[in-house]
Amino acid sequence: MLVLGIETSCDETAVAIVEDGQRIRANLVYSQADLHGRYGGVVPEAASRDHLRKIPALAQEALAAAKASWADIDVVGVTYGPGLIGPLLVGVSYAAGVALARGLPLVGVNHLAAHLFALRLSEPPVEPPFLGLIVSGGHTLLVAVPRWGEYQVVGGTRDDAAGEALDKFGRLVGLPYPAGPHIDALAQEGDPTRIPFPRPMLESGLDMSFAGLKTAAIYWLREHPGAPLSDLCASFLEAVVEVLVEKTLRAARRFQFNRIVVAGGVAANRRLRQVFPPRAAERGMTVFFPPPALCTDNAANVAACAHQRYTVLGRSEPLSLAPDANLPLHQWV
Ligand code: KG4
Ligand code: ZN
Repeated sequence: MLVLGIETSCDETAVAIVEDGQRIRANLVYSQADLHGRYGGVVPEAASRDHLRKIPALAQEALAAAKASWADIDVVGVTYGPGLIGPLLVGVSYAAGVALARGLPLVGVNHLAAHLFALRLSEPPVEPPFLGLIVSGGHTLLVAVPRWGEYQVVGGTRDDAAGEALDKFGRLVGLPYPAGPHIDALAQEGDPTRIPFPRPMLESGLDMSFAGLKTAAIYWLREHPGAPLSDLCASFLEAVVEVLVEKTLRAARRFQFNRIVVAGGVAANRRLRQVFPPRAAERGMTVFFPPPALCTDNAANVAACAHQRYTVLGRSEPLSLAPDANLPLHQWV
């Protein structure tokens, strides 16, 4: 079964073709980072128009890369939330158009669930039960996953997402948007213990807060102009990583999971990938990360998720499927 996946929830136009829910035949991602870079963040209206401009050609390219034709596609899967409403509308309209033209089932996918499906595309695949940390530019949440399709959100950020905190901090110190990958690289050269940034809400509970960390960075920078950028990045990243690791381990213990998965753009971070496994091992837990290319937004995740929703849960949507900018994860079962 070939599933065409479509993802346009933010600033990546992505089309993928996945065979039988696990074998990636094509996975194309066109990033709009250059378009939004000069504004320091995503401009929703510009993103919508750029998705519209790019998506038909990208779908043709995906078919060519998969050595497939439109007639070979069995199911169309598309992200319908959460995300930016204009960009979502472009992807959903395009997907519904394809489904209508080809007489195919249309399967709506929750973007957060799709991030978890990166684990199903990993080698070897990682299957539930597990405790998931979804950590991206838009979201940071802890979710108990007893099986695919069943999600219980057990914690997460009360304010900024971890990726958002990194991007805002990066802007503060003059890094291009999105700053996460630049902070990742600079931190490799820096001293993570140099600046004692706070670890907000570390001691208790499963909630997180990253907005205060950014404020602390603003004050510190004011009092210490000229601090080396690599040390700044390493120290800021260390605070974020420590909060993520500690909260996730606490959630895993509380809900009795010994397997943890990390997904979303920030899961590509090298420091997080380095620090987390030994910390989990100390507590008898194992942590899994998808390959970096499947951490950031892509449509292979969407296709894998759609495959499961269609074949296992027997779900598909009417062609009138409406995007939902605030689609919660627990609603998707
Ligand atoms: O999952 P994603 O591609 O899009 C959303 O759903 O938000 O995540 C993007 C976020 C951005 O905040 C970006 O700075 C961050 O992930 N990111 C990273 C790295 N790669 C992407 N943060 C830290 N280290 C990285 N290597
Ligand atoms: Zn995402």
